[in-house]
Formats: sequence, C-alpha cells, structure tokens
Amino acid sequence: MSNNEETTNLKGSTDEELELPELLASSETVRAMHETIDTEWDSLRRSACQTAAGRALWKHVVKDPVAEVLAGASYLRSLHEKMRRDHINNAREVSGVILAVRTLWFDSKIEAAIGSFGGDKGSQVVLLGAGMDARAYRLSCLKDSSVFEVDFPDLLQMKAALLSEVMGSAKHNGLTMTAKSLIRVAADIREKDWLEKLQRCGFVPEKNTVWVLEGIIYYLPQAEAMQVLQSIASLCDLTQTVLLADFMNQSSAELSLSTFHFYSDWPEQLLPSLGFSHVKLSQIGDPDAHFGLMHDPLNMFNKLRKLPRSVQTHPEDGTPCRRLYLVESSGSPGQGDS
Ligand SMILES: C[S@@+](CC[C@H](N)C(=O)[O-])C[C@H]1O[C@@H](n2cnc3c(N)ncnc32)[C@H](O)[C@@H]1O
Repeated sequence: MSNNEETTNLKGSTDEELELPELLASSETVRAMHETIDTEWDSLRRSACQTAAGRALWKHVVKDPVAEVLAGASYLRSLHEKMRRDHINNAREVSGVILAVRTLWFDSKIEAAIGSFGGDKGSQVVLLGAGMDARAYRLSCLKDSSVFEVDFPDLLQMKAALLSEVMGSAKHNGLTMTAKSLIRVAADIREKDWLEKLQRCGFVPEKNTVWVLEGIIYYLPQAEAMQVLQSIASLCDLTQTVLLADFMNQSSAELSLSTFHFYSDWPEQLLPSLGFSHVKLSQIGDPDAHFGLMHDPLNMFNKLRKLPRSVQTHPEDGTPCRRLYLVESSGSPGQGDS
C-alpha cells in the first residue's frame, strides 16, 4: 500500500464533496421512504440508518453495496460533515472509524465462527437488531448459512422496500444474496416471545448458530438484556453456539442515560456465569480490532486500551474511560459442565 493510500484509509474519504447515489438523488419513491424514516421513526429505529451511514462513508474499507441507499441522505450528509470537520481539524480519530472497525471485526469473527463449524452446511446466523445490515448480500462466507434478521416490523418492511428499489434500479440490478437464505423476523426482543417467533420462522435451536448482537444490547433495559443473553446461553446445551456482541462499559452507557441502559464492565465474567464456556474480549485498536485504521498511538482508542480496565478516569484529564468491548463467546454441549 502506498503512503497516500494508507493516509486515505486512516482518515476516511471526505476530501471530496458528498455525492449521493442516483437512487437517493432522483427516485421520488426512495426519497419518500427516507422522509418517513426521518419524520416518523423514533431514535431507536433511526440508529440503524446512522450505522449504515458509517459503513457507506468508510466504503474504502467496508464493502457494502447498499449502505448508502439504506442510510439515506440526511444521515450521510450529517456524518460526512463531521468527517470533513475532523479532517480540517486534523483530528486523531475521524468520525465513524469506530463503526468501520466494529463492522470489520464482526465480519471477520462471523467468518471464523462459521469456519469453526467445520463445513456444516446447515448452520444459522441470527442478527438481533439487524437494522440496515446487508451482510446477507455481501459476505460470501454465508453461502451455506441460513440468515435470520430480527428487528421491529416497520423497520424490516422499510428495509425490504428499499432493497427492492435497489434491485430494480439499473445500477444495482446485479445485487444478489450471498447467504443461502434470508428470513426476516419481526419481533421486539424485549418481549419474552422473541425466540418462539424466531422458531416459528424456521430457526432450529439444535443447529449450529452464530448470534450477532452488533450495536443492540446496550439499548435494552437491564432485565431484558439479561433475558436475551440467557436465552442464547441456554442453547449452548443443544449445539455449538457462538455469540458475537459489543458491550458498553458503565461510563459509556452513562453518556446518554435516556438512550443506553444495559452495560457490563466485565463481560468475560458475566457470560460464563450464564453458561458460555469461552470468552475473548477485544477493544478497538487491539490487534484483532485494528484493520490498519488505528496507527496513531495517541488516538483515544489506543490510549484507552493501554490503561488497565479497572481504571475509571483518564489520568491526564479526569474524564471517564468510555469503553466499547468486542466480545466473542462460545459454548457447546458438555462444555458448561467442565
Ligand atoms: C444501532 S442499530 C444497529 C443495527 C445493526 N445491527 C448495525 O450494526 O448496523 C440498532 C438496531 O436495533 C433495533 N432494535 C432496538 N431495540 C430493539 C428491540 N427491542 N427489538 C428488536 N430490535 C431492536 C433497532 O430497530 C435498530 O435497527
């Protein structure tokens, strides 16, 4: 990689003006759908468009062919403007880099988890709070897996409608599914019946499964988040189960008490207490959560991960240590007893 290419990778692509894809710029139907999202959806649902905007604007590292259309113009513009200001100010971290690293971390761990099932052609991947995730269209490692996307019904309907516009458009009509199958499951995972709904849609608890909880668990109240984690952990007794999730520590969740609820400062203690046998925790900037985007030793992620995790405030300025943990955890029949 040349120096110039590397600098672009580290910074994100915001030197140019934001150019909206044709569908967002010229399709009245797509514009109307995003108008509904912007004006009628609550912040919980809209967060799905924010993360899609991150994938769209870090497209030089994240290959997601539909992220722009799923994100919509207003989220693209707002993140693009933040990234532009970060460039002008020579910021050590450019906005959205955390989403790029998180996406790449989940991509790589999903692939590794499916690989760990040893060529099983019947495995399942469940995305809880799937939002505008397009992995079923972009990850070739899903070719033998049944993918289940769980989210609120109105979000899933809107996503399907946007994707159908994409598929009908000249530029994107080569878009195909890379997963073996995709089933969208309308469910509120705060309710007790979400697993039952998933099963009614074809999920089989006895099949090897990767659970993807990306950008979701901290939105749930404490009791409901624990119920979700316990339900997944209980499946370790039936089959090989891999949980991939990001957790906020308490200081991160306290950044917005009206939005975030569940946190865990020590997921590697919490998850085994529920029935998982292996847990590996990474922080943004660690060797497996780096992806060539974290070279500056003085950026906040690198400074943070060098401090012991028990340290609650930055020694330099007394601000809270806000951490995002990337956690892979697994279990299979018999392992919980050891
Ligand atoms: C920040 S977005 C993350 C979306 C996606 N996983 C990603 O990383 O791009 C959070 C998603 O969780 C969904 N969500 C939040 N609470 C939920 C609940 N109780 N039941 C189902 N989905 C929920 C929202 O609708 C939204 O799509």
